[in-house]
Amino acid sequence: MASAMKSLITNHGRYVESFRIFLKNSTEHQCMQEFIEQQLPGVISSIGNGKSTINILSVGGGAGEIDLLMLSKVQARYPGVTINNEVIEPSAEQIFSYKERVAKTSNLENIKFTWHKETAYEYESRMNAEKDSKKWDFIHMVQMLYYVKDIPATIRYFHRLLEAQAKLLIILVSGASGWETLWKKYGSHLPLNDLCFYITSADIEAILNSAGLKHQLYELPSHMDITSCFTEGNTDGELLLDFLTETCEFSKTAPPELKQQIMEELRKPECSEERDGKVLFNNNLSVIVIEP
Ligand SMILES: C[S@@+](CC[C@H](N)C(=O)[O-])C[C@H]1O[C@@H](n2cnc3c(N)ncnc32)[C@H](O)[C@@H]1O
Repeated sequence: MASAMKSLITNHGRYVESFRIFLKNSTEHQCMQEFIEQQLPGVISSIGNGKSTINILSVGGGAGEIDLLMLSKVQARYPGVTINNEVIEPSAEQIFSYKERVAKTSNLENIKFTWHKETAYEYESRMNAEKDSKKWDFIHMVQMLYYVKDIPATIRYFHRLLEAQAKLLIILVSGASGWETLWKKYGSHLPLNDLCFYITSADIEAILNSAGLKHQLYELPSHMDITSCFTEGNTDGELLLDFLTETCEFSKTAPPELKQQIMEELRKPECSEERDGKVLFNNNLSVIVIEP
């Protein structure tokens, strides 16, 4: 039975749809937005000092919503300075949505956008083959390291591309979130494959500490309303369950016993709190800012 379960990322259409429902039902982007308003100006305060062009690399930029918010803060800090914003993103649909967003956003005149339809690893291989060692003033990886095969090597590679005053920013689910509880307990029963890894900021911190990379950590409180997951057959609930377990059609393909255990786990205080008749899953995030 367990072998019937497939990783969600193998079904691209369903992945994008479940991510959309997740964004609709969570404070994921709101809490990032708050961080960008309040803390990001401090993080990027010296990345462009003395530069006529600021080079920004977005790894797994998705549909660009968060990228554009971050870009507006760089513009505010360095008014009129040219920004070269390059995006590594393997999904054609996401690039399409990103381009649409750019087209309908004003005040982007001083920003040049370039999209590379490839994975982080393909980018690294292409740069190595082209003997290109272009450096960057700001590199960010927002909610994407789960999909990278060799996480320590990827962090080391992009860290080497930082200019002297640059920053590498990573956003990932927190080690103190419901994800940590759910994945540590049930990750080994879910279709973990080499396309998606159940990692949290606690794992990244361990990698950074053993590599001796200096970094700062910010915790962002966030929750996801998963009430609909408990109504059998609810379409949004099923997509959210897929997202939580990174499993395609979890409700239909999981062995009944595993499904029951996970449904019970999701209601427990280690994962969620019940408020006003709603089940709110702890979706706390961590922002990790790494120095060159
Ligand atoms: C959860 S989404 C996050 C998108 C965006 N950064 C945000 O927070 O809204 C993850 C993104 O990473 C992209 N992705 C998946 N595997 C990747 C890889 N190996 N290298 C770069 N990006 C990848 C996906 O296509 C998707 O757009």
